[in-house]
Amino acid sequence: MEQKKDKKTKGGFTGSLGFVLTAAGSAVGVGNIWRFPYLAARDGGGLFILIYLILVLTFGFTLLTTDIAIGRKTGKNAWNAFASIRPKWGFLGKLTFLVPVIIMTYYSVIGGWIVKYLAVYVTGQGAAAAEDGYFTSFISSKIAPVVFMLIFLAISAFIVFNGVEKGIEKFSAAVMPGLFIMIIGIAIYSLTLKHTDASGVTRTGLQGLSVYLMPNFEGLTFSKFLSILLDAMSQLFFSLSVSMGIMITYGSYVKKDVNLNKSVAQIEFFDTGVALLAGMMIIPAIYVFSGTEGMTSGPSLMFVSLPKVFASMGKMGPVIGLAFFVMILLAALTSNISIMETLVANCMNIFKTSRKKTAGYITLYSLVTATLICLGYSVFYFECKMPGGATGQLLDIMDYASNSFLMPLISLLTSIFIGWVVKPKWIEEEMTVGAKKFSRKRLYAFMIRYIVPAIMGVLFLQSTGVFSLFAK
Ligand code: PFF
Repeated sequence: MEQKKDKKTKGGFTGSLGFVLTAAGSAVGVGNIWRFPYLAARDGGGLFILIYLILVLTFGFTLLTTDIAIGRKTGKNAWNAFASIRPKWGFLGKLTFLVPVIIMTYYSVIGGWIVKYLAVYVTGQGAAAAEDGYFTSFISSKIAPVVFMLIFLAISAFIVFNGVEKGIEKFSAAVMPGLFIMIIGIAIYSLTLKHTDASGVTRTGLQGLSVYLMPNFEGLTFSKFLSILLDAMSQLFFSLSVSMGIMITYGSYVKKDVNLNKSVAQIEFFDTGVALLAGMMIIPAIYVFSGTEGMTSGPSLMFVSLPKVFASMGKMGPVIGLAFFVMILLAALTSNISIMETLVANCMNIFKTSRKKTAGYITLYSLVTATLICLGYSVFYFECKMPGGATGQLLDIMDYASNSFLMPLISLLTSIFIGWVVKPKWIEEEMTVGAKKFSRKRLYAFMIRYIVPAIMGVLFLQSTGVFSLFAK
């Protein structure tokens, strides 16, 4: 009864395809198109890819299955889901709710940067964007980043206001197939590139592809391997949108006749496929125009290195630049609406308010916090030493708190809760509703009881900096 009531106030997905496309819409975002390629480039190409693929099929599968099954079985959001299973564990729901609360503060800021770059290519200013210092001078100005963030936030809010079926599902179903086609198109174009630089060296897209795919074991030590593993693991959380309550919320909208096994496999496939294709699109292009040195630029890749690559492409540059930023804007929007929807859905339950009213308050919350984060590069600029050694601003602190600190902690607690308190059988029951086959059942039980808690425990300790104390 309770479940029915919840469904009525929240709405639900029309069917399996709508669910998969919307969940993939949340999963596929800047993480796939920007973060995955730069990590792959930095962490030994094929070696990183291989580790990542293994993690997707083990950890990714386990965490995604857990979130979606908890959501559908309880019919509730994270805030109430854990408490409804075991009242003592209600705290875990509150902790999980904290993640989108934090991510919401900065995701629209990055969304705003993407809108800005799209505007740059629409108005034909690609050459200016390729100049040194363009990006820094943009984010450190006081007004422009806030204005572009507002545009991004307004579009997201509009979609969430319209609800699950008419807003979020409709938008994701329209956008995701197009995004897939565009990324394949640009990846193919990228492989056909060829360029001779000032010193007479000619590099081709296909050579770039082999740099991307061939494992690089040069200088590989045990500690380097561990750091690649950690990079791949945190990328996995972020990329699949797991352990942050989003997939629990989306799971609660799924009808009982949908085969969750298939949906989980399709989401894994979609998310990983887009990440691999994004690497195929970006790494060869950077390699052709800037060689291997161009690939170590890290986070600045999307806003600094890529505009330079587009500028070197000649006539096709502005067109490809435009297509690229349209694509990444759509991917970022479907992810942002999933964060917003999770907040709205949880708050609707907590405060018993209507969708429109709650969405209004959440928009206001995002507006205020994202403005503060934008100003973290100008008015409130300061330098904070991050546990990894890099210096960060407000945005990096929020990112660290959610992705590096809270997510491993939540995964650790969830795996203890499901693996040892409620037992994997509880999840298995949900995965086999309607006599569906849960073929990875054994793998699931083994992972959730032993491997996930062990590795998450290590990751969590690592994020607190405890290990570096011992190293001293
Ligand atoms: N999974 C998205 C990506 O890979 O970009 C990012 C994301 C979406 C992160 C939703 C967090 C989130 F709550």
